Amino acid sequence: MSAAVKKSVRILANIRLEEGIYDMLLEAGKMAEAAKPGQFISLYCKREGRLLPRPISICETDKEKGRIRLVYRVAGKGTKEFSELRAGDEIECIGPLGNGFALEGARALIIGGGIGIPPLLELAKQLKCDKKIILGYRDVTFLDKDFEGFGEVYIAAEDGSAGIKGNVMDVVKAYDFPADIIYACGPAPMLKAVKEYAESRNIKAQLSLEERMACGIGACLACVCRSVETDHHLNVRSKRVCKEGPVFYADEIIL
Ligand SMILES: Cc1cc2nc3c(=O)[nH]c(=O)nc-3n(C[C@H](O)[C@H](O)[C@H](O)COP(=O)(O)OP(=O)(O)OC[C@H]3O[C@@H](n4cnc5c(N)ncnc54)[C@H](O)[C@@H]3O)c2cc1C
Ligand code: FES
Repeated sequence: MSAAVKKSVRILANIRLEEGIYDMLLEAGKMAEAAKPGQFISLYCKREGRLLPRPISICETDKEKGRIRLVYRVAGKGTKEFSELRAGDEIECIGPLGNGFALEGARALIIGGGIGIPPLLELAKQLKCDKKIILGYRDVTFLDKDFEGFGEVYIAAEDGSAGIKGNVMDVVKAYDFPADIIYACGPAPMLKAVKEYAESRNIKAQLSLEERMACGIGACLACVCRSVETDHHLNVRSKRVCKEGPVFYADEIIL
């Protein structure tokens, strides 16, 4: 049974990390205790006409203090509204949702691109094995310092302003790290490239997908992705990213 709860929580901090990127800390209580790396919570807007909750990945949890950290990019009206909230405000949310990453392997590659990086931080903290962490940015870096201490961190920036000039796959291919598991979250072209790389090297991979969502709880089918096998619930070759995902093994899905 799902441990997801819907409730109003207090915002402890909501600060601007970089242009358009915010870092929100929530007093989430039992929601934090139940959360696994790779899961997400959905946040509700207060303004009229914004009925659908906005899914945001859990970046970090502090189970003892009952806190959840989110890092989000202002993408439209909902996330803009979140960015204007202040410490002490309340926000309605539901979670934790989705399946999360399975912790496995002895040598892991953790690969994140852009706003796909936040859910990998809690994963990097909880995964106890040899870890290479490859973070890709278009230009401005964020969260990279938070990963230090949880593995060897490699940066790729498309504009050459930090680390290696290029994308995460340029780093992966240049170093050809030995690995038995890849964890990845990022834009669709990046996930496709990771999937192809993992298949070519016969490495298991867990990919966290992002699809436009509506209900966020498995009821509306707005978020399906193509799957290799027929889904028992839907009786079609697709899976709900919000319910069966957002994390899938690479060989389960078609990108
Ligand atoms: C599983 C999951 C985890 C995510 N984690 C993060 C995160 O950690 N940080 C972050 O910055 N963003 C994350 N996103 C993307 C984030 O949900 C969207 O940027 C956000 O919903 C946009 O809402 P908006 O009102 O600002 O934009 P609008 O474009 O005005 O949104 C209109 C509607 O479309 C939906 N929508 C728009 N873009 C997306 C999208 N990319 N994914 C899902 N629904 C969308 C909105 O929820 C809303 O219902 C995640 C998305 C998913 C599916
Ligand atoms: S968003 Fe409704 S089923 Fe996934």
